[in-house]
Amino acid sequence: MTSYQEMYRRSCEQPEAFWREQAARLDWFEPPETILHQDDNGFYRWFRGGRLNISHLALDHHVDNGRGDQTAMIYDSPVTGTQQRYSYTELRDAVARTAGMLRQQGIEYGDRVVIYMPMIPQAVMAMLACARLGAIHSVVFGGFAPHELAVRIDDAQPKVVVTASCGIEFDRIIPYKPLVDEAIRRARHRPSTVVVVARPQERAELQPDRDLDWETALAAATPAAPVPVEATDPLYILYTSGTTGKPKGVVRDTGGYATALNFSMEAIYDLAPGDVFWTASDVGWVVGHSYIVYAPLIRGCTTVVYEGKPVRTPDAGAFWRVIAEHRVKTFFTAPTAFRAVKKEDPDGRLLHSHDITCLKNLFLAGERLDPPTYEWLKGMLNRPVIDHWWQTETGWPIAANPLGIEPQPEKGGSATFPVPGYQLEILDDLGNPLPSGKQGNIAIRLPLPPGCLPTLWGDDQRFRSSYLAAFRGYYNTSDGGYLDDDGYLFVMGRVDDVINVAGHRLSTGEMEELIGAHSAVAECAVVGVQDDLKGEVPIGFVVLKDGAEIDHSTLEQDLVRMVREEIGAFACLQRVAMVGKLPKTRSGKILRKSIRQLSLEPDVPVPSTIDDPSSLDTIREAMREEGIGRYRDNG
Ligand code: COA
Ligand code: AMP
Repeated sequence: MTSYQEMYRRSCEQPEAFWREQAARLDWFEPPETILHQDDNGFYRWFRGGRLNISHLALDHHVDNGRGDQTAMIYDSPVTGTQQRYSYTELRDAVARTAGMLRQQGIEYGDRVVIYMPMIPQAVMAMLACARLGAIHSVVFGGFAPHELAVRIDDAQPKVVVTASCGIEFDRIIPYKPLVDEAIRRARHRPSTVVVVARPQERAELQPDRDLDWETALAAATPAAPVPVEATDPLYILYTSGTTGKPKGVVRDTGGYATALNFSMEAIYDLAPGDVFWTASDVGWVVGHSYIVYAPLIRGCTTVVYEGKPVRTPDAGAFWRVIAEHRVKTFFTAPTAFRAVKKEDPDGRLLHSHDITCLKNLFLAGERLDPPTYEWLKGMLNRPVIDHWWQTETGWPIAANPLGIEPQPEKGGSATFPVPGYQLEILDDLGNPLPSGKQGNIAIRLPLPPGCLPTLWGDDQRFRSSYLAAFRGYYNTSDGGYLDDDGYLFVMGRVDDVINVAGHRLSTGEMEELIGAHSAVAECAVVGVQDDLKGEVPIGFVVLKDGAEIDHSTLEQDLVRMVREEIGAFACLQRVAMVGKLPKTRSGKILRKSIRQLSLEPDVPVPSTIDDPSSLDTIREAMREEGIGRYRDNG
């Protein structure tokens, strides 16, 4: 067995040789001519000249190699009381027909398709069908409000939008079609077709000139074969929150992504073809793209598509039930999901009614795995509990315990070691390397390994300024943390204005733009404050315009409603404090970090650049009055 250190060193010293070998494990139509090069922008690109199709790798390849009868996908939906299994042959056929249906709507190589769907099999089929045609999908999380969907439609300019009549949250039906109609009404770009999966729980109104029923359109379609694409062609665009109101369209290429995912399935998750892998997330997030859809299928595993919650569908034993019933070997979810389980079933009573001997490893990501949740899981499960760290931009883990290479002793609070391919360094704000134990900016030395974003959709300049400009020769992760003396990585949180609410990444800058548009608001700051269940929740600190007459509760209700309506309920802005002034630097920059710190500790260092130190007292007082952060319990 190669040791982790040996493999890691080789990936850094001979990246081209290392990744050439990994790429060779895929079924290319034409192998790549060049392993790594820099494009006209100077951005690194992997596997130029290679031709492949990821739907072929994920489906046809397995059918052609004797896995046709194996289950590819299990749909488990406690919210509808449904379970369905698809063999590789069945899924291949369904995807080929879906691709044919999209082709009939004019979708070809390079066209964009926006997918706004709940966790149903058709969401996975639509993604793979786009890939089959060489079209580019952009999946938008179903919790986003019409405004957010409209912004993405305008940026990606899709010919087709695929949706469903509704999503189901616990026992609540959320009609999706009116949200899509509203988004298209707001968008400048007009998709020519909207394909709607009609679910029995909700009827959708179809517009005769634009909308198609999924089943009807499918029945008229001819199956499509995989279209060979360039390794460097985009597979998808996935929008993620940046520090402003405009989301970043992370571009994912095809060959690098397939190579990296295949490598990760073995090296990190220790999974072999035939194993059952369950990721409880949503196809709207990167975790869903990579580890519900593409990676498990490329590896020939069985993936579980779960339309349910950790709790109340029907109870906090839901995860254990699914693991036991489908003989899941490896389970992956966000820590917040287990915090919800722990809150309802602290002693793990519901665990004991399920036989989960099949479960070998538990992986967590999306936010920091807090030590109490880690200890609780460890004590209950007595198995590896692996915190691993990554971002939408990278598409696969940056740091993890490499179980398939050489498992490392766990350290609670750490995401263990950099994954082969990622050269991590901790830098100070000027870009100087920091010694072990010192906290700073986590940066990745260029080139990034295959699978990571080559650029942002239609915005090379923003790619450069957001990620490459801060530290020359490095990708800036915008996460802070440190390496300990043994080389273990501790990721401590974002150093920018991005927050993480229940594993969902959100921009406080965007919320500030919305709140700032309220007629009574002069200025505001939104910061993420620690929350026992969701990790962080946003809290608004608002200064009223002179003469504005509005009481606190009316303002709070207005702003909460605005954020729900414009971003989505999952943003969870629930509290707003009114303050007389905000702490700012002399040049007028709001000191959000100081506000955040004040929610954690009573005394924070007064920044030397502060304009008016008494503004910190104003914030502290407002927190005390409103019971925010550390003042939560004493009201
Ligand atoms: N479609 C529509 N609405 C959605 C939605 C979706 N896909 N997802 C969330 N929402 C809405 C919810 O209905 C809720 O609305 P409400 O305020 O009107 O009740 C709101 O957004 C907040 O939802 P959520 O953050 O899910 O909180 P919750 O209290 O309903 O549930 C948890 C708490 C912990 C059970 C839930 O957050 C959870 O399952 N988290 C795991 C998330 C995850 O897997 N993240 C992984 C990313 S890698
Ligand atoms: P997203 O792009 O939505 O996957 O969110 C990425 C961000 O989530 C990262 O930049 C981190 O801030 C945070 N994150 C994800 N996984 C972890 C982890 N294991 N530990 C700490 N933070 C994490």
